[in-house]
Amino acid sequence: MTEPRRIRNVALIGFMGSGKSSVGRLAAARLDFTFVDTDALIEERAGQRIPELFASRGEAAFRELEREVIAGLAARERLVIATGGGAGANPELLAALKLHALVVWLWVSPESIWHRVRHQGHRPLLQVPNPEARIRELLAARQPVYRQADVLINADARRAHEVAEQVVKGFRVATAGSPPG
Ligand code: S3P
Repeated sequence: MTEPRRIRNVALIGFMGSGKSSVGRLAAARLDFTFVDTDALIEERAGQRIPELFASRGEAAFRELEREVIAGLAARERLVIATGGGAGANPELLAALKLHALVVWLWVSPESIWHRVRHQGHRPLLQVPNPEARIRELLAARQPVYRQADVLINADARRAHEVAEQVVKGFRVATAGSPPG
């Protein structure tokens, strides 16, 4: 039997550097929800930071932990969940999130992503000779799945608090008239 959808959380998906964590924190504060970051939960579970986890156990181990962490959120409520950039690009994880969360894609152009991440070194997938080209390739491959989100917000060149306000509005519209919790 398929589980009925009951939206009680918000999940932010989108590419690295799209502002999921900063927007998520602000949206959680406005909704009086708890903010969780799947990357932080993975690090807790692994007892390692993400670059170390990728280096010592590989991306497949990271993806398995990501799947477990996301499965573990299904029973929770009143959460704003910031996901890692690969989670919302995985149709299985996207479907799992949709069962309990309004899924919001924060869209940012490849140029802005590059601008935002170029001085940061903590993203193993961008530790390649041409990270800018990698961003374009990955984004092109992931976009068809990100696009399955419930709500798309253009987060390019917008302030985090403005984007958070739109997330909150989207959640209120999506849950208007449904019982609390
Ligand atoms: C990843 C994005 C990262 C982190 C990991 C893999 C990805 O999260 O989960 O490095 O596959 O795009 P952010 O989107 O928070 O940077």
